[in-house]
Order: sequence, then C-alpha cells, then structure tokens
Amino acid sequence: MTTTGPEAASPTTGRAGELVVEVRGITAGYLPGVDILTDCSLTASQGELIGIIGPNGAGKSTLLKAIFGLVKVRAGSINLYGDDITNLKANKLVSKGVGFVPQTNNVFPTLTIQENLEMGLFQNPKGLKERLEFVTSIFPDLSKRLGQRAGSLSGGERQMVAMSRALMMGPHVLLLDEPSAGLSPVRQDEAFLRVKEINQAGVTTIMVEQNARRCLQICDRGYVLDQGTDAYTGTGRELLNDPKVIGLYLGTLGQED
Ligand SMILES: Nc1ncnc2c1ncn2[C@@H]1O[C@H](COP(=O)(O)OP(=O)(O)OP(=O)(O)O)[C@@H](O)[C@H]1O
Ligand SMILES: [Mg+2]
Repeated sequence: MTTTGPEAASPTTGRAGELVVEVRGITAGYLPGVDILTDCSLTASQGELIGIIGPNGAGKSTLLKAIFGLVKVRAGSINLYGDDITNLKANKLVSKGVGFVPQTNNVFPTLTIQENLEMGLFQNPKGLKERLEFVTSIFPDLSKRLGQRAGSLSGGERQMVAMSRALMMGPHVLLLDEPSAGLSPVRQDEAFLRVKEINQAGVTTIMVEQNARRCLQICDRGYVLDQGTDAYTGTGRELLNDPKVIGLYLGTLGQED
C-alpha cells in the first residue's frame, strides 16, 4: 500500500518553464479498432494554465481520461516530468501528483463535504489538517459546511467540492473536465476564478471547457481539438483572435471585447 503522497505535498514543485506533461502523438480509444484520439499532442509547462476547447464529441474528455490512465493509449506516449506514464493506472498517477476532476459524477453524494475531502487524501492521510487549510483558503464557503452531505449541494457547490477533493493530495497537475458546465453565469464566473486561483497557487492546470471564450481569456495557452486531434494551438489571445478558430469554433462570441 502506498502511504506517501506526491514527493512534495506542496504544489509548487518544479522549475519555471519545466515541461510537466507531454502528450506525444497519442492514439487512444474505448473499443478495439475504434480510435477516438489520433496523433494527438499537448504540452503543459510548470505553472501553466492550459485550455482545451472544441466541438462536442471531439475527444476532449477522452484526452484527459487518457492522461489519467482511464482510456487505453495504443500509440504515442505521455510523460510526466520526463517520466513515461503512458497507461499507468489512475491510483499510481495520483501518487505521482496528478489530480483529475471528471465531467460528471465527481462527488460522493451520500458522504459529507468533509468525508469527500478525506477521500481525496486516502493515499496520504497524515497531511489532513494542512491540506484542509489550503483547500478551504481557496473555497472558504466549504469550511462552514463540512458536515453537509454533498448530495444536497447545488451543481456549483458540488463542482467546488470535486475540485477541493482533487486538491487534497497536493497535486502538481490538475486535470479539470468542464468545471463551469451546467452552472449559472454567476457561478461560472466563480468557477473560472477558483481555477485561476488554484493555478496561481502553483498547480499546473489542464482544463477542458465548453465555454470556449471564457476559457481562452484566462488560460496561458489553448488547444482546439477536432475529430480527436489537436487542430490549432496558441496562446489564449492568439486563438481568440484567429479567424479560423473564430469561424469554426467560437462564432461571433469569439471576438474580444
Ligand atoms: N465510454 C465510452 N465508450 C465508447 N465510446 C465513448 C465512450 N466515451 C466517449 N465515447 C466516444 O468518444 C468520442 C469522444 O467523446 P468525448 O467524451 O471525449 O468528447 P468531448 O469532446 O468530451 O465531448 P463533449 O463536449 O460532449 O463533452 C465520442 O464519439 C463518444 O461517443
Ligand atoms: Mg467531454
């Protein structure tokens, strides 16, 4: 059994500019013979906030699941801090400092907020107090409601619990699948704000978003996924102003204020 968490519980490990995640030309899919991702690549350097946008069914969630060992990678490779992590199981990835918040069913509804957070720390229960302090500093509303069952929370509140649970291990890298999905505009703004705060605390973050414009506004670099491959990449600003990206993926909403 693993009793230690990531080598450093602090999310600030790593040198500025160091390559943290490197996805190199992966092919991946769920069913034999059916590739969802083909020759798909992505990098995230230390402290970067990376956005992934693209149409429904493009393979955005599949890419995050492939990084987190939940979808079989058939070709290509995935490295974490230079180590090959291709097809490593999720529990191993958690102990290496990778956190994942899936698109749906991302809290345990019958457990309290506190119990959900403790589940996030199951591989390293010693750091509970310190991690709770960090997480509740980012999500202060949660600290007042630790005894409430997660199933009784609103969608936005659940999203906060799910992100907090992933943060309990002190991840170096956080994979977020649509943190603003299904939220009211005010709650969406809050979700983006929290993601930015988490990233600014030193956690390299890779976020998939439907809300493409907001995502590109806050991310350092973005990827447009189309039919299972990285079709366009650039800084958030470059993509927001790229006529091809606007025409195909952002519509008139893509024009900057
Ligand atoms: N568990 C699964 N088994 C088989 N096929 C799947 C599975 N999950 C997703 N797919 C297929 O993989 C393709 C890509 O799905 P994925 O969920 O990665 O897209 P997405 O870009 O995240 O879309 P959305 O914006 O709707 O969330 C789709 O054609 C989908 O039907
Ligand atoms: Mg998805």
